[in-house]
Amino acid sequence: MSGDARVLVASNRGPVSYTLGADGELTSRRGGGGVVSGLSAIGPDAGAVWVCAALSDGDREAVRRGTAEPGTRMIAVDPAVFHAAYNDIANSVLWFVHHMLYQTPFEPSFDEDFRAQWASYATYNRAFADALAEEAAPGAAVLVQDYHLALVPALLRAHRPDLRIGHFSHTPWAPPDYFRLLPDDISAQLLEGILGSDRAAFLTRRWAAAFAACCADVLGAEVSPDGTAVTHGGRTTRLGVHGLGADADFLRERAGRPDVEERMAALRAEAGPGRRLIVRVDRTELSKNIVRGLLAYRRLLLEHPGWRERVVHVAFAYPSRQDLASYREYTAEVSRVAEAINAEFGTPGWTPVILKVDDDFARSLAAYRLADVALVNPIRDGMNLVAKEVPVVSDHGVALVLSREAGAFEELGDEAIVVNPYDVRGTAAALNTALTLPEAERAERTKRLAFAATSLPPSRWFLDQLTALS
Ligand code: G6P
Repeated sequence: MSGDARVLVASNRGPVSYTLGADGELTSRRGGGGVVSGLSAIGPDAGAVWVCAALSDGDREAVRRGTAEPGTRMIAVDPAVFHAAYNDIANSVLWFVHHMLYQTPFEPSFDEDFRAQWASYATYNRAFADALAEEAAPGAAVLVQDYHLALVPALLRAHRPDLRIGHFSHTPWAPPDYFRLLPDDISAQLLEGILGSDRAAFLTRRWAAAFAACCADVLGAEVSPDGTAVTHGGRTTRLGVHGLGADADFLRERAGRPDVEERMAALRAEAGPGRRLIVRVDRTELSKNIVRGLLAYRRLLLEHPGWRERVVHVAFAYPSRQDLASYREYTAEVSRVAEAINAEFGTPGWTPVILKVDDDFARSLAAYRLADVALVNPIRDGMNLVAKEVPVVSDHGVALVLSREAGAFEELGDEAIVVNPYDVRGTAAALNTALTLPEAERAERTKRLAFAATSLPPSRWFLDQLTALS
């Protein structure tokens, strides 16, 4: 069983999504992101196929009608299986483990329900492995993405030992002491799943080292002295690090368009002329630490009252994973805390926090261009591209307040004002430092941040992984 594709990508979320209108009409929308622009770099003649899940009713309808775009293969698994694999296992267990998000009273207990959900996760991974095995030409390169598909490399290798298989983790990887909260057979399956690849790659050295440490600790695997290879069950998997960077050409062109300029004018008017802007842009995601960011801003206004009326916190927090109760609650809490700050400090002419929750990419770029300070304070983050994008399009230089737990810290830490994300007082002090950074220093740092942030654009990030597989 083999197909024609010479390069294959597999990910839960694909490059295109469909909406089913009331009239039965299907409309498609292309998404962005590193893999999308990376893949476009290899050109239409490369014989590439992207295998992804049908996520919406529109996607499932497109599969049923056979209208999915050429070069894209959507898998329509049973909705209940998908729900268990995506919401219950991938986003509620694996995401929580790698971001170390469990805390009382949200500690896991792995019971019968979990076992049933895990069986669905395995079914969903098998569906991907089967589709890849069907589509791949002999000796093809397959790039499997992320924690949704950790079992795919080993499952695929069992069918198709001829393929060159890579796995890329876009998240952090948990250290062994935390990873081991998973049941032993499950942690072993996850690691052995990824070790089915020829090469397992990560966004930073830190996450790669944690993965190697888990392999040694849980499986008794052998890690090479330089930490770049793991041997287990007679096979060696190489480890790689590819720190995805910002796409400077795309961002600068997009940020220069009239719709962005219009939104800049609107935002400037809403904030009030002359006021300094502390900007953050995130999915409303537990790991992004938006509430502590707001509390740090509150502390700034308390401890440095001179900033009142002179600064505005622009927080764009776009709803995400709303099928999960913990995310719905978090989204509500972000609004509550923002409103409380506005009630506590606001005056007739000054709204201290401007919170927006409707996703608008042009408006995000407008905020990037205007920002005096960018606040990126995740509890843990695989990379964080906002930290890399803001300096690239900044109009007059930006001071970056950056969590040491974001992957981007490895590359940008020297030029940023670095915070411990749990330390609200420390973050408030960092905001004050950022606001008072002399203009010349801010401009210098922004230049160096933009340089570091763009050293591995998506096209090269993607091609490097392909080259490393051959
Ligand atoms: C993270 C993950 C991606 C995922 C994205 C959005 O960046 O690493 O794989 O696509 O979050 O999450 P969602 O659940 O909306 O796909």
